Amino acid sequence: MSSQPRKIAALLVHRVLDEGESLGSLLGRQLAVLDDPRQRALAQELAFGTLRWSFRLDAVLARLLSKPLKKKDRDLHALLLVGLYQLLMLDIPAHAAVSETVEVVRHLGKKWAAGMLNGVLRNAQRQAPDLLAAVDESAVARWSHPDWWIERLQQDWPDHWQQILDAGNQRPPMVLRVNRLQTTRDDYLQQLQAAGIEAQTLPFVESAVRLTAATSVDNLPGFRAGRVSVQDGAAQLCASLLDLQAGQRVLDACAAPGGKTGHILETVPGLECLQAIDVDESRLQKVRDNLQRLQLDADLLAADAGNPAAWWDGKPFDRILLDAPCSASGVVRRHPDIKLLRRSADLHSLSQQQQRLLEALWPLLASGGMLLYASCSVFRQENSDNLQAFLGRHADASEQPLQVEWGNVLPVGRQLLPGEHDMDGFYFACLTRA
Ligand SMILES: C[S@@+](CC[C@H](N)C(=O)[O-])C[C@H]1O[C@@H](n2cnc3c(N)ncnc32)[C@H](O)[C@@H]1O
Repeated sequence: MSSQPRKIAALLVHRVLDEGESLGSLLGRQLAVLDDPRQRALAQELAFGTLRWSFRLDAVLARLLSKPLKKKDRDLHALLLVGLYQLLMLDIPAHAAVSETVEVVRHLGKKWAAGMLNGVLRNAQRQAPDLLAAVDESAVARWSHPDWWIERLQQDWPDHWQQILDAGNQRPPMVLRVNRLQTTRDDYLQQLQAAGIEAQTLPFVESAVRLTAATSVDNLPGFRAGRVSVQDGAAQLCASLLDLQAGQRVLDACAAPGGKTGHILETVPGLECLQAIDVDESRLQKVRDNLQRLQLDADLLAADAGNPAAWWDGKPFDRILLDAPCSASGVVRRHPDIKLLRRSADLHSLSQQQQRLLEALWPLLASGGMLLYASCSVFRQENSDNLQAFLGRHADASEQPLQVEWGNVLPVGRQLLPGEHDMDGFYFACLTRA
């Protein structure tokens, strides 16, 4: 039954919009209800797409309803958004989109709403161009981002804000990281070709392979044996920026789910130690699982990186990666729910937390050592502003400018904007200690 994917998508949208839950925490369990992989793919596309365009779809819906639905009928509101997404943004035949969406009201025990849904969706279909032209007068609808977010980007990126918003609304590519302890990128491209999976290299990232179309990891040659991992190209830049050498002591301070931990180990065998810390024990389990699949090993610890007194043995680190907790504003194309869950006030508390972590970790760095600060945010308050303030407070810290050909130079560090070279939005700054 094709109403099932619509039902699951509407449920996911409802839980994010009205209960503030994150899509990632809900997705696996909800999709597992569907046996057919094509139905799972459709539910996923509808949930992600509806959330990606929810500000725009909401504005359209407001024009089609004489008054907002009652609080107890917010499930129908979510279902209507899923219906509008199909009609206004996808190439699904309109009659199927409407009938299968309306059918969901039966599963919700709200048969009374079938006529209303049908009427609203048919009107949307008839008036689509006019409705979209009217709502797109507002920047929030047109770019489908919160107003505070758009304003912040206009301030931080006066020449790029539209490009950033547009990139945030695209479907992200599936990018792999080839484990060069097990194979080479060229070999792996051939293995993919033999498996009938089309892929290309990604510029600037030696380990990265971009798939033309997303696929299940079960279809990837050697995935279970750790030959390859799923990781965006921007995240794969960290390991090379760290300038790793055998024999070094390395700290990965905010490690979960362990994408960069695994990549560090794949890049340089023979480190003296890799200490991987995360404050969240349940997320640390993902690091364990990932390393097990890669057949690699690190010292894992559930602890607050901002309180080294509780866990540090006093031996300095040659390299510290601080992949800071952040707004994730650079990865909205992968996590469209972030646009709905983040509040503008979060940026202040995140920036304070980032500065606390920087301050706490700096004394752990050996003299001559390097700390790489990374975030998947595009907001300067979480990036360059933090680093500028930090450098002002620490005479023994200096910036080591990145000698690379990608990204945008900031007062401190470099910003890769979302979509540039097909990568996520990421910020990087290297600090060395005198
Ligand atoms: C951006 S994610 C890290 C992603 C990871 N480096 C990777 O590549 O897979 C940030 C992580 O910081 C962790 N975190 C937040 N506050 C922390 C703290 N005070 N100490 C240690 N980890 C913290 C979060 O639990 C989260 O897993």
